Parts: sequence; structure tokens; C-alpha cells
Amino acid sequence: MTKMSASRCNVHGCAEDEAAGRRLADQLGAPYQPIQVRRFPDGESLVSVAAARGRAVVYRTLNEPNGKLIELLLAASALRDNGAEHLTLVAPYMPYMRQDKAFAPGQAVSQKVIGALLAASFDAVVTAAPHLHRTHDLSDVFGGKPARAVDPAPLIAAALRGDGAASDRILLGPDEESAPALRTLATASGLNFAVARKRRLSDRDVALDLPLNVAWHGRHVVIVDDIASTGATLMKAAQAARAAGAASVEAIVCHVPAPLDLDKLARAGIRRVRSADSIAHATNAIALAPLLADAVRALTP
Ligand code: R5P
Repeated sequence: MTKMSASRCNVHGCAEDEAAGRRLADQLGAPYQPIQVRRFPDGESLVSVAAARGRAVVYRTLNEPNGKLIELLLAASALRDNGAEHLTLVAPYMPYMRQDKAFAPGQAVSQKVIGALLAASFDAVVTAAPHLHRTHDLSDVFGGKPARAVDPAPLIAAALRGDGAASDRILLGPDEESAPALRTLATASGLNFAVARKRRLSDRDVALDLPLNVAWHGRHVVIVDDIASTGATLMKAAQAARAAGAASVEAIVCHVPAPLDLDKLARAGIRRVRSADSIAHATNAIALAPLLADAVRALTP
């Protein structure tokens, strides 16, 4: 893939995302421009941007989203006022995607609200592994605007291949929703996979059963999931695998949107956690920038 011409766009990013924003800028061969955010004592934010070119990319991952969303809208407005004609949002972690309907009377449909908010400010959206259930076309979330979801499977498969060949390794998806992603990954990595059954008991607890038709004894289990939030799913999957005789357990996830107690996961038998860099975290081992850059090129005129 050819690099986007430096004369065509800048990548603008906030301090918290600077390392990953610069990785994207490098991939695009584009200059990186910091977005300045000053937080006032009363909780308001003053956002300032450098002069923009016609096409601007804003890198802002949206874990802990409530405050970040406001600053993002302010940044988009400032970029338009300072020369941007086309704005692509790169938000590797896209929040509020699960609430795609009112699950109980009176609930807000968060996906619709947040999608419309971002669509009003941006011309195109790039994210990674969004947590979508009933929405099949990401563009529908953003009012029909061009949108792409990067699938980290090729990068995870490369990481697995880099671990070396081991016929006794097996991928474990913690719930039925993970089956399609696991199937893709199993093909790309040449490993077998199995999928557990999970029931959520509360925000912070799950119950999980491994499939009985798999010989777990002595296997090296790699749990693969899109998100580790409280870590309950990883913990229960690891405990089940160890109880079934697994020789070792590790985990690979895309997003880590909340503090993850790595000591607790280690006590549950997880010897290593690797994550993609959609959100800066101690477990980051997989850089999404090459895939994000391809998606930006595809969506930026
Ligand atoms: C669930 O559908 C997701 O794929 C993850 O398994 C879940 O969000 C993980 O959350 P937690 O770490 O809190 O169990």
C-alpha cells in the first residue's frame, strides 16, 4: 500500500493517545499535530488545535468516554474552523456500541445517540473490533457516513505464529459470540479452537462452562476475546481450563478499557496477557497502526 502524501493530511491527537497517534501518523507518512487540552477547575475543557490541512485525521480512543467525547467534538469544531474540509475520526476503541436497543423500558439507545453525535462532526470513522450485536453495517451507526472496523485477527494470528509451533496449543473463545472471530483466527494461525458457554451473573461476575468434547489435559490454552473489562471472563475461563487439566493458560484481547488486575489474573492461572494497543495498557503487544492506516487511506478522498 502506498503512503498517503504528507501534503494530504495531518494526524491530530491528544496527549493521552500520543504514542499510538504517532504510530498511525508514521504509517501514513503524515505529520503529527498535538491537540492541546486545558482543563479548568470547574471541569470544563479548552481545546486548541494547530492549523489543519484540507484532510485531517483525529486519533482519539474512547475508553472512559464521557469527558473525551466532549473534547473530541470541540477538537473537530476547532479543526473545521482552522482549515479542515474532511475529518476522519480514528477511535480504535468505540464505546456505547452494545446498547443498540432499549433492553428495558426507559433505557436510552446509546449506540444511536453516540453514533449520531460523532456523525455530526466527522466525515468518516475508523475503529477496531467494535462490540456490535445486531448492527451488521457500521455505517448505519454513523448516519450512513463511511465507516470501517479494523479486524485485528491477522495481527493476532501473526503473534501466535511468532510464538512457534506447538501442536498441543488450543484457542478458547469464552462465549458463543466469539465463535466467528475464533474461526477466522484458527484458520489464520493453523490452531484448533473451542468455544465455551458463558452466562453473565452481574457486571463483575460470569459463569462459564468449557465444551466437554475437547481433551484439555496437557493443552496450552490461549483465551482470545475482544474485550477484557473487569477480567471476570478471562478469570473464569482460565480457572475452568486449569481445572480441566490445561498445562498453561494465556490470553490475547483487543481492548482493555478499564483497569485490569493482572495479579488476580495470574492467581487464576493466566501466565501472560497480551492486548492490542487500541487503549494504552501495560499488556499492549500488538500495534494496530498498519491496519488503521489502511482503513484511513480507504476512507479519505
Ligand atoms: C462479552 O460479550 C465480551 O466479549 C467480553 O467477554 C466481556 O465484555 C468481558 O468483560 P469482563 O472482563 O468484565 O468479563
